[in-house]
Amino acid sequence: MKITRRYFPILLSFLILFSWGGVGRGQDSMLARTPPMGWNSWNHFACDVSDTVVRAQADAMVATGMKSVGYTYILIDDCWQGTRDDAGYIRPNVKFPDMKALADYIHGEGLKIGIYSSPGPKTCGGYEGSYGHEEQDAETYAVWGMDYLKYDLCSYDGMGAQIPAYRKMYDALKKTRRPIVYALCQYGMQKGWEWAASVGGNLWRTDDDIRDNYFSMAELGFGQNGLERFAGPGHWNDPDMLEIGNGGMTDDEYRTHMSLWCILAAPLLAGNNLVTMGAATKAILTNPEVIAIDQDPLGVQGHRVTQEGPLEVWMKPLEDGSKAVGLFNRGWGAMPVTVGLRDLGVGGSAAMRDLWARKDLGRFQEIYTALVPQHGVVMIKVK
Ligand code: GLA
Repeated sequence: MKITRRYFPILLSFLILFSWGGVGRGQDSMLARTPPMGWNSWNHFACDVSDTVVRAQADAMVATGMKSVGYTYILIDDCWQGTRDDAGYIRPNVKFPDMKALADYIHGEGLKIGIYSSPGPKTCGGYEGSYGHEEQDAETYAVWGMDYLKYDLCSYDGMGAQIPAYRKMYDALKKTRRPIVYALCQYGMQKGWEWAASVGGNLWRTDDDIRDNYFSMAELGFGQNGLERFAGPGHWNDPDMLEIGNGGMTDDEYRTHMSLWCILAAPLLAGNNLVTMGAATKAILTNPEVIAIDQDPLGVQGHRVTQEGPLEVWMKPLEDGSKAVGLFNRGWGAMPVTVGLRDLGVGGSAAMRDLWARKDLGRFQEIYTALVPQHGVVMIKVK
């Protein structure tokens, strides 16, 4: 009893210290422990986004089963902004009559919501940016109930170094005490991967905008090799959002898109119209075994292990000691792709499972060969 009384003040100060650190710290490493999954308005709707569109996509996220396999964030990209009020607070435009009500609606579905701005005076679409209003904007997002901010470098040229600009918004977000995932969009300029996490970034774009065609997707996705050491739980490389289901690629090409993004531990942000999505698109976006590779708790980004002309083998180590492996054919016509177990750091023989076919393939000695369709992939788990 005596001891307790004597040490009580010390105990109390420890308790205060720890709770101070834990409550409302805003952006911390527990946010985005695995790569964020969700839907973003830009790739399909661009500036045709509205409250009605967003609600319908959220409804579809639930109805299609996307939510149940892990998709969580409903992200409003550019074109939601109106003008500022006399005090300088941002207001949405007429297409978003009540942002707080919209956020409540999304939260009511068990989902999270995100918004978009720019450190410059204007966004990429020419809408109002956050320059000079960083704290007011962060405060507004928190009051609305936003859980995610994409902060896009547009119109910031010549206005000072981008690193302090990104830190400024991070500090403003932190001050709100609301946990808000912080997504930097600066296209890999000034090697963003080297400093983005140090200014609070949970993810950062590593390159230019994706287009809905195989060559754009392949250039971005296969171009990520070497960046794996910058990613990990809470901080991820972002080779841009998904185009799956937007119509510009074949199903084999979209399966490559999904497989590669999962091996890269990339954010999985669907960019199609979830309301009209067909069965093939849904199957590609929702295969739980493929998603589990992206969301593996070890949080290691995969890399290329071999390349022979257009044939590439990529590998992502997983928490249970097994490896996810992608056998990719970037060339014309179907071709056999071979992976050597030794290249994967596996000796002797190993059990394999085909993740798209969702079936065990048996045990293999030294090598495994699969016939891979043009621009396609065979994705396996090696145990
Ligand atoms: C940039 C970004 C895109 C999108 C648009 C919006 O191009 O890279 O992802 O946010 O701006 O204007």
